[in-house]
Amino acid sequence: GRPLLERARKATLAAGGQVIEVTRDILAKVSRRDNPQAVIGVFRQVFARLEDLDPAAATGWVALHRVRDPGNLGTVIRTADAAGCGAVILVGECCDPYSVEAVRATMGSIFALPLVRVDEADFAAWRAGWPGSVVGTLLSATVSHAEAAYRRPTLILLGNEQQGLPPDMAALCDVNVKIPMRGRADSLNLSVAAGVMIYAVTN
Ligand SMILES: C[S@@+](CC[C@H](N)C(=O)[O-])C[C@H]1O[C@@H](n2cnc3c(N)ncnc32)[C@H](O)[C@@H]1O
Repeated sequence: GRPLLERARKATLAAGGQVIEVTRDILAKVSRRDNPQAVIGVFRQVFARLEDLDPAAATGWVALHRVRDPGNLGTVIRTADAAGCGAVILVGECCDPYSVEAVRATMGSIFALPLVRVDEADFAAWRAGWPGSVVGTLLSATVSHAEAAYRRPTLILLGNEQQGLPPDMAALCDVNVKIPMRGRADSLNLSVAAGVMIYAVTN
């Protein structure tokens, strides 16, 4: 009897989906929440291919090398969406963007932009044809992120939470930059660094 649910039900059926009524217990089990929402959507997972991406479609693009934390990944996807980035590219062995934790952290942005999975060799080959700057983010870099000149479209490459960006990946970049840190922290959280970089290159 709720108008929004009725609209969602009609739209789902019109799109060829199924609507299944279940008990609250089942909703709790599926959502892994004690206090579940009244509706859960189930969608096919979608990945794009590098060759499907059009660099002219956006000024900012994000690539993550071996990201491990699903919360970080979901937050990066959400931030990339908010800033109008073209895609999030997962390079090497990354965590699953469709895991419960990652999807939750995207707050719906999982539907907003293409996700690509690629190994290091294919990424390196594709990057060779990138028309703008490829910017690595590296704690040992000597160039500040605010001083570098970025050519658009700008592809930002971020490293793994523990190891950072390895030398072979940093070598693929036109410039490697560091976000200055004035306190005692040895690094920023990956998704925070991504946020700073995404807004630096898209504004
Ligand atoms: C938690 S950090 C990795 C720390 C790792 N111990 C290292 O040595 O690089 C995860 C990623 O966030 C980005 N990052 C974090 N702090 C940064 C900073 N101050 N400047 C540039 N990138 C940073 C880099 O992409 C880094 O690979």
